[in-house]
Amino acid sequence: MAAYTGTLIAVRDVDSLRRRVQAWRREGRSVALVPTMGALHDGHIANMKIALKMADRVIATIFVNPKQFGPSEDFVAYPRRESEDFELLSAAGVHLLFAPEVAAMYPPGFASTVRITGLTDILDGAHRAGHFDGVATVVAKLLLQAQPDIALFGDKDYQQLTVIRRLVADLNIPVDVIGVPTVREPDGLAMSSRNVYLTPAERVRAPVLYRAISACTSAISGGADIAAAVATARAEILKGGFREIDYVEARHAETLAPLTNRSEPGRVLAAAHLGLARLIDNLPIPHA
Ligand code: PAF
Repeated sequence: MAAYTGTLIAVRDVDSLRRRVQAWRREGRSVALVPTMGALHDGHIANMKIALKMADRVIATIFVNPKQFGPSEDFVAYPRRESEDFELLSAAGVHLLFAPEVAAMYPPGFASTVRITGLTDILDGAHRAGHFDGVATVVAKLLLQAQPDIALFGDKDYQQLTVIRRLVADLNIPVDVIGVPTVREPDGLAMSSRNVYLTPAERVRAPVLYRAISACTSAISGGADIAAAVATARAEILKGGFREIDYVEARHAETLAPLTNRSEPGRVLAAAHLGLARLIDNLPIPHA
């Protein structure tokens, strides 16, 4: 892989992004894209580092996508820290930051929606109407704008990753989608930009979600009844101080259909509310 000594460049429009990518293409470089909504944490930076190992040039995107937030969700409150993010990306060795304004992504007259049916009606989709339409629309745009060889998305948003794989396959978008493992705090809490919503007392309780689904995956792979293991996890999460559970489910790892047979690849996925934060997490069910 070629050594790179440049500094991070930020662009806000698609033409500038494409000019950079085309110049790299002429030099024969491979290109990775890491889409984010900013407020970067160590999990994002771990994704950037994986991308830097896999491709010659890495583009990070920062765009708080209004189309994936419901009317009562946190679009306005969502943390925005662009100058700190720029420093972190620069220190990580990322080559290009694409940070478009809303008007550049959705100019007046914008009228298209990418909708993946089925996969988006369940789990998070059942609780966040329109969320995955917004995700699929913006991810399709980012992939077509940058035309990378690979694009990296965190396993933490496992349903999102599954939807994006479907989108790329269905629309024949020529990119390899890479799922990257969830990065966790030492106590197990999955890193998320939304963890800033937790009060110090809630932050102490938050790892209960991880511990409950972790115990659930072990119980299922150890032969426990799937429904009973899920019920135990739900009880642990509520006992641990979460105020409401959106779902705790054991699902097929590829189709996201309810898991009926533990010999199939499985995943336990959960979403629950702790104070003002809605936390999600998921883990694979190890093969017994
Ligand atoms: O996972 C996220 O941060 C977002 O959903 C994504 C993939 C950047 C699309 O806005």
